Amino acid sequence: MREDAWSGKDVLSILDFSRADLETLFETADGFVNRPGSVPKSLTDRIVATAFFEPSTRTRLSFSTAALKMGAKVIDLSPDVSSVLKGESLSDTIRMLESYSDLIVMRHPSEGAALLASEVSDVPIVNGGDGSQHHPSQAMLDLYTIRKLKGGVDGLRYVVLGDTRYARTAASFLYGLAKYDPKSVYLVSPEGLRLRNEVRNMVDKLGLKIEELDDLEPILDKVDVIYMTRIQKERFPDPNEYEKVKGSYRINKMVLSKAKDAIVLHPLPRTNELSYDVDDLPNAAYMEQARLGVPVRMALLHLVLGERGR
Ligand code: NCD
Repeated sequence: MREDAWSGKDVLSILDFSRADLETLFETADGFVNRPGSVPKSLTDRIVATAFFEPSTRTRLSFSTAALKMGAKVIDLSPDVSSVLKGESLSDTIRMLESYSDLIVMRHPSEGAALLASEVSDVPIVNGGDGSQHHPSQAMLDLYTIRKLKGGVDGLRYVVLGDTRYARTAASFLYGLAKYDPKSVYLVSPEGLRLRNEVRNMVDKLGLKIEELDDLEPILDKVDVIYMTRIQKERFPDPNEYEKVKGSYRINKMVLSKAKDAIVLHPLPRTNELSYDVDDLPNAAYMEQARLGVPVRMALLHLVLGERGR
């Protein structure tokens, strides 16, 4: 076990963690899933702060749930009723939270916001998503879900479908996959939603081989994992560009009839790219994926702030 990689550390990007670090996280999460009665109250007397400057359901609430299950107390900054509205800077806001809490989970629309926070804060910062590239705990729970449902991450064939341009979940998932040995990684998206250069360059640098396609159909019966993303409407610099790609891909029960036992992952929320009729298929794994966010985030908080993080 390499707890030292985690203890007291910021969690800003999955790029900062090795495969061995991820395995430590996953084994810790396994312990919580397999023996729920033995979850340690390792966060007793700790205060976890959440500060979400963008909407969130799963990330904020599953971090809060994870913290509460381990005995911590949770305080929440709601930017829309806080001094952020009066123009308080991010660094002042983080300095305040740092003095009230032992760890801050934050989300922000600007890339680099979590790094900035980590520079002004002495307590660990956990990035719950900033900008269009990093959402480390999501990528960790995505990999954990695959490991649980498919028995491992190596040797599988993946397709990432949809908004690979602006979805930080897609970029972070690719960065996570690069730590493993996938058999093939396809990206399927319309022209306007292809990878940005900074992500493409990072994927290349990490040595992850990807193949970009226009169409899902030819590979549907060849993949083990379908990773979907919603079009990140709010991140388009120009609404006209969004209009061009709106509704450009959709998975439903009929489309999936060609897929064998591929699991469908989606970080959620879904809009219209993932039809509700998929929910009843054995392929649908996104609700389980969201559920597994709790043990993965429990393990993360335990390793960063638990016994050894004191
Ligand atoms: C994602 C995000 O915020 O990047 N949400 C999440 O954490 N599950 C995905 C999205 O908003 O599309």
